[in-house]
Amino acid sequence: MIRFAENAKLVNSSIGFVPTMGALHAGHLSLIEAAKRESDLVVVSVFVNPTQFNNASDLDKYPRTFDSDRSLLEDSGVDVMFFPSVEEIYPAGTEDQRKFELDGLDELMEGPNRPGHFNGVVQVVTRLFDLVEPTKAFFGEKDFQQLAIIKHMSSKLGYRIDIVGCDTVRESDGLAMSSRNVRLTSSGRTIAPEIHRTLEALRNELRTSSIEEGLARAKAALLASPEIELEYLELVDPITLKRATDDSISIQGCIAAWIDDVRLIDNMRVK
Ligand code: PAF
Repeated sequence: MIRFAENAKLVNSSIGFVPTMGALHAGHLSLIEAAKRESDLVVVSVFVNPTQFNNASDLDKYPRTFDSDRSLLEDSGVDVMFFPSVEEIYPAGTEDQRKFELDGLDELMEGPNRPGHFNGVVQVVTRLFDLVEPTKAFFGEKDFQQLAIIKHMSSKLGYRIDIVGCDTVRESDGLAMSSRNVRLTSSGRTIAPEIHRTLEALRNELRTSSIEEGLARAKAALLASPEIELEYLELVDPITLKRATDDSISIQGCIAAWIDDVRLIDNMRVK
């Protein structure tokens, strides 16, 4: 990987980088298509990063579909599938982690609910950036807080990499594509689009109602489905990720919820 990156630099070729944890689906393919449009060469990494899982069973249950990922990447025409081992990414082991100051961007949402998660994400993404040396890196907006943190940390740590956010790809019923969706039962799969519908309803509601009223209605709608266990529903400023107020000009609605023991997240610009 290092030699490939060095050679690309020598001939002035730009590298578009799509970091993934595998179990590739149409959402990843849309990131790859964006990378192909905007770069000379495309590198896709497949690495299930242990340091970003605060829950050992979530790490164990994370789908690993190496063979189908490989054939999908072969068909999609990427130049490199980079699949390092844990030892290659973390030569000193995974226990003694480098600590990053995330400047409050992890105060809400995933931060308190998944302690250490974003530290692990920044740790692996910076390590991958150092190995791949991309010109541009592509991330899905489904992981809205992750994208905001990577944009902030990449510029704060001095990486000269263009961080490109790409639209969330959805199933026809609105469910955001995710590697976790395959773990839903068929009744869970039927109920899961309710998360997206709630965000759409909230966007309409906020045209005429206050944040407090909108949030109360949206939470009541989710509670009406006993299969959905809401972890959080937050309305935040899209850049600072601080809680929005009725005066906020832009507001991002972000949800995490459990269905069938599967943790799903989604978000939408609601104002
Ligand atoms: O979004 C993901 O799949 C992961 O968090 C990432 C960015 C590949 C880091 O492991």
